[in-house]
Amino acid sequence: WLGFGIIALAIFLLIVGITAFSQGHTPSGGMDMIDPKKVNETAPFDNPGVTKIDDDTYQVAIIAMAFGYNPSKIEVPVGKEIIFKATSTDVVHSFTIDNTTVNMMVVPGRIATKSYTFDKPGNYLILCNEYCGVGHHMMFTEIEVV
Ligand code: CUA
Repeated sequence: WLGFGIIALAIFLLIVGITAFSQGHTPSGGMDMIDPKKVNETAPFDNPGVTKIDDDTYQVAIIAMAFGYNPSKIEVPVGKEIIFKATSTDVVHSFTIDNTTVNMMVVPGRIATKSYTFDKPGNYLILCNEYCGVGHHMMFTEIEVV
């Protein structure tokens, strides 16, 4: 039985290892790189906020920093694909939209990307759920879906 246990463990680790490499799993989930000192001059973060890509697609560039988000006010249309791109200029934060599947870890030096389509208008709470310092509990804002 011990041999069976060891073989089962080996197979499990092999599967985890192979899928991690083949699907590019990383702690931050396959993100693009960015120089955290040059965020303000690197597209799309040189122009933070909402950009219309085409009739059905919008992109939102967000810079997270202690203890807030730039831009602090975001308004996007309902029923369209919204591509969120977020990065941090200082420490690890998160970009989490309450009641949605948007929950990104925002790491300095990386660009986190998540696509989401809101099916109901309203105000949604954006918050940071990674402890980032003394102001962590004050790091939140809203997104307005119209
Ligand atoms: Cu930013 Cu917690």
